[in-house]
Amino acid sequence: MKIAILGATGNVGTRLVNEALQRGHQVTALARSAESLPARAGLTAKNIDVSHADALSQAFAGHDAVISSLKFLGTDPRLIIDAVKRVGDNAPRLLVVGGAGSLFGAPGVQIVDTPDFPEAYKAEALAGRQLLNTLEAEPADSTLDWTFLSPSALLLPGERTGKFRLGQDDLLVDGAGKSAISIEDYAVAMLDEVETPRHTRRRFTVGY
Ligand SMILES: NC(=O)c1ccc[n+]([C@@H]2O[C@H](COP(=O)([O-])OP(=O)(O)OC[C@H]3O[C@@H](n4cnc5c(N)ncnc54)[C@H](OP(=O)(O)O)[C@@H]3O)[C@@H](O)[C@H]2O)c1
Repeated sequence: MKIAILGATGNVGTRLVNEALQRGHQVTALARSAESLPARAGLTAKNIDVSHADALSQAFAGHDAVISSLKFLGTDPRLIIDAVKRVGDNAPRLLVVGGAGSLFGAPGVQIVDTPDFPEAYKAEALAGRQLLNTLEAEPADSTLDWTFLSPSALLLPGERTGKFRLGQDDLLVDGAGKSAISIEDYAVAMLDEVETPRHTRRRFTVGY
């Protein structure tokens, strides 16, 4: 498949690029400094700023899927939605690297709204929830084919085990009360979804 990864130089983006290349996909890496990535078979890198709407749309054209791994703050995620739509016929699917903050820790309670949620991550988590709300508000006849993958609370570099659970809108917590997923396993779950769409027009989550 042809997959564009926006934010390809970031913590999550680099692991998504690795996982996609390892599976034999053709990857277009996009970021302001994408051309700094080491050259590898199957990888095309293009420096781009998301605020350049026409260039972004052109960069997305011809791909089966776009994975956005940008931070929610500092860039306007609606630019990405608009750029995908502007591709027109044969627009790629849009898969968004989401946040855990909008997951439910108890019925009706998203963890970003709980007193224990770390202040340092709150603004980013609220912006992530806003993007999820925007996607969920897409009209039923919208051409946008989107998926939002929320990680567990802890998303850190680690092992690629390929062993994890998937959930929908509730925070996944292991037997010891910990909510975690390595970025490597997060990338496995994301590429599984790219190859076999199971969560179109909805959010899902991954954790141990
Ligand atoms: N547990 C959680 O909920 C959790 C934990 C960690 C991360 N996350 C989420 O995961 C996502 C990715 O996080 P991350 O840590 O991988 O972020 P990151 O390391 O900061 O990476 C951001 C990427 O976006 C690119 N970028 C930034 N501004 C850009 C622009 N104007 N135009 C084009 N590219 C731009 C950066 O590359 P350039 O600078 O080269 O442009 C980089 O590749 C975020 O949405 C974050 O909220 C969630």
